[in-house]
Amino acid sequence: MNPQTSSQTNFCLRWKPGDGQALALEVYALTCRTDFDAPGFCLVNLGSTIDSVTFRQRMVELKQAMAAIHESRTGDTLVYLSAGRFDQQETTKPHLDAGPEECFLMLGYEPSLVEAEVEICDYAKCAFELGLSPQEFMAKHNPMFCTGYEMLRPYSTRIPCFSPSDYQIICINNSSAAYSATNPKWQGTMHTATILAPDESQRRVINSTMIATAPAGSDDRVTAADLDEFMHTSQVRRRGYDKQHLEDD
Ligand SMILES: [Fe+2]
Repeated sequence: MNPQTSSQTNFCLRWKPGDGQALALEVYALTCRTDFDAPGFCLVNLGSTIDSVTFRQRMVELKQAMAAIHESRTGDTLVYLSAGRFDQQETTKPHLDAGPEECFLMLGYEPSLVEAEVEICDYAKCAFELGLSPQEFMAKHNPMFCTGYEMLRPYSTRIPCFSPSDYQIICINNSSAAYSATNPKWQGTMHTATILAPDESQRRVINSTMIATAPAGSDDRVTAADLDEFMHTSQVRRRGYDKQHLEDD
């Protein structure tokens, strides 16, 4: 299959009231892929009129609905590994976030005046077509370096429906498991953000969660109190290792 083909799949979704289950099914199918027919990511636009706390509640509801779908299909469940709020204004090269073999990111982008582009690179598919596992691909062609980045270019999709004025959830399969027809595992993608004009006087808030497969009955690794804090806090982390001068909000 042409690498571009799957990028034509409709991965731009809209949230509608009362539509939670149908939406979760679509998000699950697009994100939690075990082959290369689905893109491994999708965007859900929730419009501009909801508030931040409601937005985060929708994220948690979507995760719960996806966990129920995963349980009914595989017997395993989905658990939170992390949940936090960040002002992210760093341009990045294609990368995976550190996580287990099968996991995905559910990122909640709030409206922002800081212009940015988000791009997804289908590195698992690129690896598969080279006869490599994703981990072998990373060892030989890490896209943090030029040649790997060039190899991934035909497998890269800029998310064209990303809207700076809306609340949006982007789900990104962040797995590193090898492809197997007999023992299907999630197939990951890398992500990259380009911040066109960083501005410390503005905010670009991302409500960032990582979710992984786990045996049925496993607890979230985020406590109920921390998840409640994630949903309701007005705090945003700004101060990174390279941003010592910034104060958290
Ligand atoms: Fe990342």
